[in-house]
Amino acid sequence: MTELTDTTVPATPAEPVAFPQDRTCPYHPPTGYEPLRDGRALSRVTLFDGREVWAVTGHAAARALLSDPRLSSDRCRPDFPIPAERFQGARDRRVALLGLDDPEHNRQRRMMIPDFTVRRATELRPWIQQVVDRLLDTMIAQGPPAELVSAFALPVPSTVICGLLGVPYADHEFFEEQSRRLLRGPRAADSVAARVRLEGYIGGLIEDKAKEAEPGDGILDDLVHHQLRDGTLERTDVVSLALILLVAGHETTANMISLGTFTLLQHPDRLAELRADPALLPAAVEELMRMLSIAEGLQRVALEDIEVDGHTIRAGEGVLFSTSVINRDPGQYDDPDALDFHRSARHHVAFGFGIHQCLGQNLARAELEIALGSLLARLPGLRLAVPAEDIPFKRGDTIQGMLELPVTW
Ligand code: HEM
Repeated sequence: MTELTDTTVPATPAEPVAFPQDRTCPYHPPTGYEPLRDGRALSRVTLFDGREVWAVTGHAAARALLSDPRLSSDRCRPDFPIPAERFQGARDRRVALLGLDDPEHNRQRRMMIPDFTVRRATELRPWIQQVVDRLLDTMIAQGPPAELVSAFALPVPSTVICGLLGVPYADHEFFEEQSRRLLRGPRAADSVAARVRLEGYIGGLIEDKAKEAEPGDGILDDLVHHQLRDGTLERTDVVSLALILLVAGHETTANMISLGTFTLLQHPDRLAELRADPALLPAAVEELMRMLSIAEGLQRVALEDIEVDGHTIRAGEGVLFSTSVINRDPGQYDDPDALDFHRSARHHVAFGFGIHQCLGQNLARAELEIALGSLLARLPGLRLAVPAEDIPFKRGDTIQGMLELPVTW
């Protein structure tokens, strides 16, 4: 009897894939996400604890759902999806901005917006340039070679966020290490302990600032002398706001500088193009943001049933946004795996979208343009100091990046 193979029958829905997975190449989505990459809007994925949740993978669906008030960001909700064991402790504290829904979210966001406008970022550019120049002077005087993460990629955004917040940069080793543990654990207890230490540290700064007769010019000084004093914000909210700004303000941008540099060095034609025409820099930063999608797996929980593309997300179900897959939706971007400074990458969701869209995005863009632009201009011979495959990177993290980047010139 002839065996029947009916190729016209559509494939059965793919089994849920594990989420998140390790990247095999630091600037491409994990190869295990291949089944999610056919342009579909939603897929089912399995978390570390066996729970099945939705992964949003289509670009149009992502922008619609990230703007949908029926999805909550409140990490204290019992059904909120936790993407890794180390974040289990996240439920016991209210997180400022990122973990709030409107109207409370909107109230906090309005307080913070004046410090993060395009105009404010433009005003800060000369100072950011000074920070970058000084770090490059030191690195060049001491090298080659250099380890770019510790010499440049991390200190640029750390110095900038310290200056903006009014946090002493002298404490950077402490808060960088605690931020690393907060995000990377490895166990839930490590992550919780790091958060408690950071909260204690910020609490101490608040007490010191409250004793000053006049506020200094940092954002934290302002919060302490105005919103805290007049009761607009409670102390726990000021601590949480400062914590999120301090951590989000340096970790993410540092990873973009290191992984962005690595990616450019792995694409010599694009690097040569950028060196020949520095006016491409803003477009290059946007395209790198899209391609690298360093903040992966944004989390929400459904408050009501939501119909999307023939599927129903039920109330109480977890929803994760796979930015690395969304930003390579073939329906939105031609040849999505290619690095192309001439496409319009601006509608990427690497800074999120909707009410929680990154508060620091204008600042981050300014830092990235100045840091990458100056690095390439000052070091025309910049190259990796060891083979690319020997360089360690953050594999299964919710924030991707290089652990080290040995370079020479
Ligand atoms: C390249 C660097 C950065 C990347 C890739 C990035 C990415 C993101 C993403 C994806 C979100 C949305 C999260 C969600 O919807 O669940 C977000 C929110 C946020 N980011 Fe960034 N970020 C960066 C830099 C910064 C900087 C420099 C700061 C602060 C100075 C910052 C502060 C924040 C804050 C406060 C939020 C929460 C906003 C809200 O909930 O209203 N980020 N960021």
